[in-house]
Amino acid sequence: MALTDADLTRIAEAVDEDRLWRMHMEMAAFGATPKGGVCREALTPEDVQARLLLAKWAAELNCDVSVDAIGNMFIRRPGTDPDADPVATGSHLDSQPTGGKFDGAYGVLAGIEMLHALDAAGVTTTRPIEVINFTNEEGGRFQPGVMGSQVFIRPDELERMLNVVGADGVVLKDALAVYRAEAGDIGEKPLNTPYAGFLEAHIEQAPKLEETGNTIGVVTGIQGSRKYLVTVTGEEAHSGTMPMRRRKDAVLAASNMVVGLHRLMEDPVDLTRFNVGRFQAYPGAPSVVPGEVRFSIDFRCPDDGLREALGGQISGLCQALAGPCAVDVQEIQRSETTPFDPAVMESVRKAAARAGAPSMDLLSGAGHDARNMARICPTGMVFVPCKDGISHNEAESATAPDLAAGARVVAQTVAEMAG
Ligand code: HGY
Ligand code: MN
Ligand code: MN
Repeated sequence: MALTDADLTRIAEAVDEDRLWRMHMEMAAFGATPKGGVCREALTPEDVQARLLLAKWAAELNCDVSVDAIGNMFIRRPGTDPDADPVATGSHLDSQPTGGKFDGAYGVLAGIEMLHALDAAGVTTTRPIEVINFTNEEGGRFQPGVMGSQVFIRPDELERMLNVVGADGVVLKDALAVYRAEAGDIGEKPLNTPYAGFLEAHIEQAPKLEETGNTIGVVTGIQGSRKYLVTVTGEEAHSGTMPMRRRKDAVLAASNMVVGLHRLMEDPVDLTRFNVGRFQAYPGAPSVVPGEVRFSIDFRCPDDGLREALGGQISGLCQALAGPCAVDVQEIQRSETTPFDPAVMESVRKAAARAGAPSMDLLSGAGHDARNMARICPTGMVFVPCKDGISHNEAESATAPDLAAGARVVAQTVAEMAG
């Protein structure tokens, strides 16, 4: 029997703002930084502690916890039909190295708060409901990001991702084994199982909601992106003796590439997003002409045609600016602009109205696990404001009322999808 408006309002009212805020502060202790942010990179000891706390909260809610081959965690609330495809919500507990308390954690904790609210409202649903914590969404330690959800929908990617070597030299599968040992006896979840729907709550990571006085973002989709790893190979030499005309200076060549790429990406309407976030020179000794540079490229644009056209020029431009050095350009991830499901968006809009929260439609500039889940089931996202739109920064901040408003939308929409 479908849930009535009265049922959904009761569920929304059962969301507890203080409990949700307390969960954020308890989770933010893992990897807490002096500036008030978190450094909780994927499968580090801090991330493992966060995972263990999440599993503890799940047990207190009498939910089963299972883990898949890439370490994604699934917290399951039974439905009256155990064989029905579940409806899920969730996000990621891993953070950037200079991350904030809310990016990712909010989507997982809003899911936990939803479980509390459903119990408090005495609601049973036909479909099972799951809260998911995806492994390595951020892609800081292990590249690429959005990894856990990508492997979940593409099991053929599992071996490649398990063998990724992190920036700290640790192989992902070894870090995962440490977590599995700490997690103890936990259910095994197969990859790529079917879902009836997925909804992710996230801070907006941009200032639109705050600027327009809206509390809820009805996310229409996620802009497409292309990620690359560039290796520039020169020749190590003595800084004091090697004549300049004979040098193969990898930093000089790589720097010309970075400046040239930024010029390529300039656009009058400020639509494209491009940066080099990691730039490593080897051997990195002051008196050695650098023989190698490895740098990352993060390029995004909502317009598929423009993204293809500009992305298609990256390798050629690097070759043209390599000078006496060699250059290798590897594209390590590519995604099209992903539209979300109109029915899920309508359910989010109605849930916001039922919760008395002003809402607006908006496209996500940031990437999320919902992009991958949208490939296997009807998917949507709910945004809430973050202060000045700041994120991927320790100053990231959100308010308890806004977080609770988003959780009220999650609780209603997921319950509605689960019937
Ligand atoms: O990079 C992203 O868009 C996500 O926040 N990791
Ligand atoms: Mn995120
Ligand atoms: Mn992020």
